[in-house]
Amino acid sequence: MEVIIVDSPEQVANRAARMVSEFIQKKSNAVLGLATGSTPIALYRELIAAHQCGETSFRGVTSFNLDEYIGLAPENSQSYRYFMEEHLFSHVDIAAKNTFLPSCKRDDNPRKVGRAYEEKILASGGIDLQILGIGSNGHIGFNEPSSSLASRTRVKTLTRETVDANSRLFDDGDFQPHLAMTMGIATILEARHILLLATGENKAAAIRDAIEGPLCAHCPASALQMHRRAVMVLDRAAASALEETDYYQWVESQHVSLVEEYGHYYDL
Ligand code: F6R
Repeated sequence: MEVIIVDSPEQVANRAARMVSEFIQKKSNAVLGLATGSTPIALYRELIAAHQCGETSFRGVTSFNLDEYIGLAPENSQSYRYFMEEHLFSHVDIAAKNTFLPSCKRDDNPRKVGRAYEEKILASGGIDLQILGIGSNGHIGFNEPSSSLASRTRVKTLTRETVDANSRLFDDGDFQPHLAMTMGIATILEARHILLLATGENKAAAIRDAIEGPLCAHCPASALQMHRRAVMVLDRAAASALEETDYYQWVESQHVSLVEEYGHYYDL
């Protein structure tokens, strides 16, 4: 696992945007796994800016989002489809037909929807680069603590903690779903590259458990320890509970010289 610690949330977004842009420049038909939530908004803003100045094109890109609430129509302003349109898709040249979310209507069979989503990912060649946030309880996607590390796309019941954390995004009286369809942990681990972003002190304990804790279902993000190419970009607050900070910074300084020498970050 590579751990990059920067000073501020803005630098997290900037660093991640450079990595994603570089990735798409090298692989114009990249398959991206995308996340919603507060953390990637600044990343998407930077990607939009890179697109607007002609640096990055999403024309050949396909995207699969991690999760979607059950019971919210795409046009509902709280749905993740709406979020993606608002924060990325409508501002860049990605083809609408190549953007996918695991949407499951109330009368759909969730097992079939989950299987079909997995098949669609496979048929697209698999996810090249998966972007992740992390819950303060260590969840990735909506794989809450105790999720099977072998899980695939399916319905999950959100924890009360997650429902409370996300209630800030719903107006009083709005229906807030407690169920979501999410890629599983095994689905996420199949991505060729993983880029997890975390900012703020409320993520510090989850980040510590994910990077330095034991591999266990109690902290779903700890499963990333099993991935060969997982990069975590953290601000100082999110990294504040880590023990091996000096080592991560030392590795990073070595890595920067390697990139300078060889001129690329991702070995595609
Ligand atoms: C969203 C998702 C979640 C969020 C996590 C952090 O698609 O999969 O795992 O990444 O809940 O959310 P924020 O960034 O709002 O703190």
